[in-house]
Amino acid sequence: CRVRHYKFDVVLKNFTRLCSSKPIVTVNGKFPGPTLYAREDDTVLVRVVNHVKYNVSIHWHGVRQLRTGWADGPAYITQCPIQPGQSYVYNFTITGQRGTLLWHAHILWLRATVHGAVVILPKRGVLYPFPKPHHENVVVLGEWWKSDTEAVINEALKSGMAPNVSDAHTINGHPGAVANCSSDQGGFTLSVEPGKSYLLRVINAALNEELFFKIAGHTLTVVEVDATYVKPFKTDTILVAPGQTTNVIVTADQSAGKYMVSASTFMDSTIAVDNTSATATLHYSGTLSSSPTTFTTAPALNATPVANKFTNSLRSLNSEKYPAQVPQTVDHSLFFVVSLGINPCPTCKAANGSRVVASVNNVTFVMPTVALLQAHFFNINGVFTTDFPGNPPSPFNYTGTPPANLQTKNGTKVYRLPYNATVQVVLQDTGIVAPENHPIHLHGFNFFAVGRGLGNFDPKTDPKKFNLVDPVERNTIGVPTGGWVAIRFRADNPGVWFMHCHLEVHTTWGLKMAFLVDNGKGTNESLLPPPSDLPKC
Ligand code: C2O
Repeated sequence: CRVRHYKFDVVLKNFTRLCSSKPIVTVNGKFPGPTLYAREDDTVLVRVVNHVKYNVSIHWHGVRQLRTGWADGPAYITQCPIQPGQSYVYNFTITGQRGTLLWHAHILWLRATVHGAVVILPKRGVLYPFPKPHHENVVVLGEWWKSDTEAVINEALKSGMAPNVSDAHTINGHPGAVANCSSDQGGFTLSVEPGKSYLLRVINAALNEELFFKIAGHTLTVVEVDATYVKPFKTDTILVAPGQTTNVIVTADQSAGKYMVSASTFMDSTIAVDNTSATATLHYSGTLSSSPTTFTTAPALNATPVANKFTNSLRSLNSEKYPAQVPQTVDHSLFFVVSLGINPCPTCKAANGSRVVASVNNVTFVMPTVALLQAHFFNINGVFTTDFPGNPPSPFNYTGTPPANLQTKNGTKVYRLPYNATVQVVLQDTGIVAPENHPIHLHGFNFFAVGRGLGNFDPKTDPKKFNLVDPVERNTIGVPTGGWVAIRFRADNPGVWFMHCHLEVHTTWGLKMAFLVDNGKGTNESLLPPPSDLPKC
């Protein structure tokens, strides 16, 4: 293992998409940003220098950060933001992980353009548990707004209404055919050689849409999600939620030519989304660029069966070398109702004196002004409380008629877990405002998705159907529209760990909470002191 040094300069750069130009916040002037490469067991030092007018912080999404909570990155959770003109070195070691993850800004809506891939190779001399592909490519799916994203969300917060949706999706930074502008040059091209196999590391870095991904005429073999190996299976479509990653192998086994690659939205609810499809081209070497492209039809916007089929096919590899260490017993059994809601807002004229909010167990999380991890470590009182409810305060028929009073309570609450406790969280969607799929992300841990169902979770019968043998292990999971998902993990990482919906609009509205794991000072079970350059608030 070795130490890898990276420098991330956060700078404004002009980009032209959809026939118009605007300055965007980038890392090193790139969109998507640079790929961070490491091997399992490597130590990574990323010096982030802020050259823009916004406060920034960077999160290494899915990196476990064992005992390095100070390097996790969510602003006001594990660190104060890096202020304009300041810098911070994120210092962490990749432990027990290999595969594809992503890094992204974790403040305001900056991750719209401040994101990139994290590629963790196996230890030197260790092979993949599948035939070695001839080539590897990173495929970052994203979103593009014609307007400034910070203005979009600020306007929405003022009005109380939902923000505007993006204007296009992107594949490696380009919308493709949809744009029809010379500036977009027809989109991203993936060049392949006949007969060769390609490992595509597909990342959804979009803010607000789950995306289907497919390639005309080609079968995808899924081998890994969220940097954990799965039992390989073949499919023509994968579904990737914001924050999720999926590695697929595709073989250039068709007749030479050009094949359309598409990334299209999945939304099986009535919520407004950007329903544009991004396209790219799989281009066999030697094919004239003037030759026609073989098209593919994207799944329908509300293709729930396609989504379910993919999701239900995911299983941990659970081999001798990569066993699925599913907690068989549970010390803390939690039930979290995740939902949207409506709160009064006298100044919100556009929304008739109300505003859309979101909550977990009826708590709308209020961002503190001092990072929770600092407040915890230095015993700063009054920043957060430890009374986050482990169960809904007033149960109701979650997927039936919602109760008359939809008002949530504001709070900065954490749930305390003893070090090494085994935890089960059932995440239940509701019909308040609208049932909707919420991709929930947990920082600091991987979890096992042991169960999933539609309607209300039944604590008597549903646990009997849990898969405790080879459930998929990941860091971000979709709670199905009008349904629930059950996850299990071991709280073996001291720190303050954010859990939130990875649809950025829902995070903004308060669909977030945090776990606090710490058994006191001086052992593996507790936090190390912060680095000396930790930003101050
Ligand atoms: Cu990828 Cu808290 O986020």
